[in-house]
Amino acid sequence: MEDTYPLIDINKIDKSFVTQEQDNLVLSDISLSIRKGEFVTILGQSGCGKSTLLNIIGGFEIPTKGQILLDGKQVIEPGRHCVMLFQDYGLLPWRSVLKNVELGLEPEKLGSKEKHERAMEYIRLVGLEDNIGQFPHQLSGGMKQRVAIARALAMKPELILMDEPFAALDTFNRYNLQDELVRLQQKEGITIVLVTHDIDEAVYLSDRIFIMDPHPGRIRRELTIDISKPRDRSNSDFQYFRKLIFEEFHIDSRQEPLEFNI
Ligand SMILES: Nc1ncnc2c1ncn2[C@@H]1O[C@H](COP(=O)(O)OP(=O)(O)OP(=O)(O)O)[C@@H](O)[C@H]1O
Ligand SMILES: [Mg+2]
Repeated sequence: MEDTYPLIDINKIDKSFVTQEQDNLVLSDISLSIRKGEFVTILGQSGCGKSTLLNIIGGFEIPTKGQILLDGKQVIEPGRHCVMLFQDYGLLPWRSVLKNVELGLEPEKLGSKEKHERAMEYIRLVGLEDNIGQFPHQLSGGMKQRVAIARALAMKPELILMDEPFAALDTFNRYNLQDELVRLQQKEGITIVLVTHDIDEAVYLSDRIFIMDPHPGRIRRELTIDISKPRDRSNSDFQYFRKLIFEEFHIDSRQEPLEFNI
């Protein structure tokens, strides 16, 4: 069945970093598979190996043991099949909004008119059509992250990898962008792997959450969040999953702030 076909298949991965005769095992025996169109979150405390795992999925790091398949092919280097979205947006300061979005399209053999049209299509989707001539320093954090999202979507990748993309944003911007991301992801049918240590963000966005343990990083628990989207943060189902995860981390779910970073 097409909807159960795994886009990513991670098979018994270990990752060690060797530094000055020390062999630091960062990830141990990670196995998981992700279907096309799924929104999957990797959730865990600081230093548990989330970014390392994301980098392996993107082909930026090679596992020490085990293998990772994307669409049945072993991932050994980064490719245009997947785009990474970072917390610091990754925009070029000397390029306008439009030119930053077009940047992602440069390796494609598109004429300048086509390139412009494709970039504008995604700039409109993220609501920045009135800002195309502005430069990154003239934009708010939320707007910059919108440009980065438009650039990623315009490349029409199979997979978007996100490493805490909303961490630098205030609550309002974060909630708005999370809503937009859900809408765009459903519209475009993209597969997204998000790394975060924000429990609410994970429950709000994910179809499945992988909870990691640290030292070495392992998958402790997999949770399927079977609530229809868009979700309501005050809904009892939402609260149920939120509480469940807080309890996994032995945190009182009534505590504020909602983020943790142990
Ligand atoms: N290139 C590297 N060389 C050596 N050690 C590394 C390297 N990259 C990561 N590590 C180590 O691997 C461990 C996991 O790091 P990683 O960045 O994956 O954690 P994380 O879960 O993303 O943390 P955070 O939430 O703080 O971003 C850390 O102990 C880190 O020091
Ligand atoms: Mg990280």
